[in-house]
Amino acid sequence: MPISERLGLLGSGVFARMDQHKRSYRLSEACQARPLLDLSLGSTDLAPPPAVLKSMAAALLAPASSSYCLNASTLPFREAAAQWVQQRFGVTVDPLREVLLLVGSQEGTAHLPLAVLNPGEKALLLDPGYPSHRGGVLLAGGEPVLLPLRAAQGWRPCWGQLSPSQIAQLKLLVLGFPHNPTATVGQQQWLDEALALAKTSGAVLAHDNPYVDLALEGQAPALLRCEGWREAGIEFFSFSKGWCLGGFRLAFAVGAAPLIEALAQVKAVVDFNQSLALQAGAITALQQFADWPAQLLPIYRARRDAMATALRAQGWQVPDASMALYHWLPLPEALLGLGSEAACAELLERSGVALTPGVGFGPGGEGWLRLALVAEAAVLQEGAARLGAALRQWP
Ligand SMILES: Cc1ncc(COP(=O)(O)O)c(C=O)c1O
Repeated sequence: MPISERLGLLGSGVFARMDQHKRSYRLSEACQARPLLDLSLGSTDLAPPPAVLKSMAAALLAPASSSYCLNASTLPFREAAAQWVQQRFGVTVDPLREVLLLVGSQEGTAHLPLAVLNPGEKALLLDPGYPSHRGGVLLAGGEPVLLPLRAAQGWRPCWGQLSPSQIAQLKLLVLGFPHNPTATVGQQQWLDEALALAKTSGAVLAHDNPYVDLALEGQAPALLRCEGWREAGIEFFSFSKGWCLGGFRLAFAVGAAPLIEALAQVKAVVDFNQSLALQAGAITALQQFADWPAQLLPIYRARRDAMATALRAQGWQVPDASMALYHWLPLPEALLGLGSEAACAELLERSGVALTPGVGFGPGGEGWLRLALVAEAAVLQEGAARLGAALRQWP
């Protein structure tokens, strides 16, 4: 069969292999005694606002909800998003030209490179970083330039690692703070610096911000707070994390009008918009439950603290996480030689707890594991105990 070479570049094998390990574990005898505890996905167990689901359900039977939804019909959603932007950041945006409905911020960030990059052009990506950022650049024929993030620098993007000629060649920079997978909120200044850099080289700055309302410490950075974002920027927001609606695939972009128009052009080739019924729920979320993410914060804080304490009690050195949903864990010394993928597979087999190998987020994630706080504190503590027991029995 003819399969394109660009698929080979994606190298998404780590996650596929972890899925295979989870499947095998589910079928194993060990799973009977120690059920799978899957902490490998950032897919929350917390509930969305019931009224949001009711809005969707009520709109479901309207004939228009079953029809293809052309961009013009998304205007009520875009107006609600613009109002949310006004309230959240004090920024007035044009719902017609500066807002776009998306099928997830993953979809939007993955499609953006098709809209802004020519084949062979360079895009800066954080390493480690969210996999769809790199995937989108590769599918567009772009060339990733990885900016290594380091624990010793608090995962701050250190632009000095790039030469002036490397910076001058960039056509796109993709950042995302609060940052998955390092569980770091980040600082507004980092985005200001990135925007200045993008403007210098005539590049686009894309900021993926699905965790904007989920900082556990400090304030999440936002591109919309940077002066001059309209000159080069586009920012992505999602309903998946703050409103717990990941399965519904709802997100939106706010950005410079030419970027929104270009992304809409790509999307028009690929899909129609989400059903009006889903949009009705999203509008309810924005208009009536803007504070829902804030209500999740005490829950995530309690989970984060409980899990850090429990893991530290097992002798695992856990760095502080400043955002909701994740811990980013250095490989325990006993497992260092294995690498993150083999370590995850071994820990799963021996404890029934599934984590994510850091290397799945890029070479800079090697030596680390990501743990998602997607279970109640007591369950997480049991997971920590199981992981600790597995480590004590090593090898
Ligand atoms: C940085 C980042 N971007 C995008 C996504 C996907 O978001 P969505 O569900 O809106 O596609 C995630 C999910 O984990 C993420 O961490």
